[in-house]
Amino acid sequence: MHDELKHIENAAETEIRAAKTLDELEERRIQFLGRERGALTLILRQLKNLAPAERANVGNEANRLREKVERLIDEHAAVLRSSARESILERERIDVSRPGKRPPRGHLHPLTKLIREIEQIFLSLGFAVAEGPDVETEWYNFDALNIPAHHPARDMWDTFWLRQKIPSTKHQDPNKSKIKNLETPRLLLRTHTSPVQVRYMEKHQPPLRIIAPGVVYRYEATDVTHEIQFHQLEGLMVDRDISIANFRYVIEQFFTRLFGKAMEVRLRPSYFPFTEPSFEVDMRAKGSKGAWLEISGAGMVHPNVFKAAGLNPKQWQGFAFGMGIERLALLKWKIPDVRLFHSGDIRFLKQF
Ligand code: DAH
Repeated sequence: MHDELKHIENAAETEIRAAKTLDELEERRIQFLGRERGALTLILRQLKNLAPAERANVGNEANRLREKVERLIDEHAAVLRSSARESILERERIDVSRPGKRPPRGHLHPLTKLIREIEQIFLSLGFAVAEGPDVETEWYNFDALNIPAHHPARDMWDTFWLRQKIPSTKHQDPNKSKIKNLETPRLLLRTHTSPVQVRYMEKHQPPLRIIAPGVVYRYEATDVTHEIQFHQLEGLMVDRDISIANFRYVIEQFFTRLFGKAMEVRLRPSYFPFTEPSFEVDMRAKGSKGAWLEISGAGMVHPNVFKAAGLNPKQWQGFAFGMGIERLALLKWKIPDVRLFHSGDIRFLKQF
């Protein structure tokens, strides 16, 4: 009996200290002190079989050992708890002196970048940058550009008209808005940037050279090359003696700088109400025998447009052009679908 107690004492000392967690320690407690099968409990249960003198002796010894085991457990529990706390502190330690993580920086939208690049090129050629409103009047978008109501040329632009509250509908003929200021002007989302030409010439005497980049709207189905909302680049140069040769030079310079290699253009006869003569502009890398790409409309400013802007067409001549900025972007960066620009897809945007 005595030897058994000694044996339990040795085992308790090593095994309790070996417990690595509080759960393990609890297992040790049950192993030695458990009410059912604890090693000490089993000893105490056998006391009744001993002679009375021996019983007191062993009983005292067993009680002393129980106290010792309890103390060992308490002590080791304290050790485990404090080292658990320390390891949590160590794990969660924050070095406030370390440099912070930089938040990721965004960048400009590819179209914004392109427009700024275009502006830089034209600024260096002596052009100013002009703007006009997205919500435009019928007058500036059509009539002043020599596109009267009922003229079939209006079909070239599928238009978003704005729903308007008209003060007095009685005498309202919606097609008479070209009589400026007499009636509430009909409003629309501009279908092209050409109205900026007229707005600018109303306020500035020639000679003048401007570009007008901006958003335009078309009421049409979308696909890989069409959006209902896109950007155009308008250009206008007016002076006493401007010719198609001037246009050719400016536009070739522009494409050459934008695409980073010598470009040449070809002018094909076309029709726009606000220019006469009118052209389609094709371009390709200079000297290449590759295909011509249609890229812009252009022409010499129509006398009626000068008149609408209050300029004398006998005194002034000019060229104008208009092209899609998304189309330039698709060609410059070989992008397959114009709808990517407004998709908000970060994987697309990150590439620029
Ligand atoms: N405004 C025309 C369009 O949206 C493009 C255009 C063609 C503009 C010829 C011009 C021009 O200034 O001269 O289709």
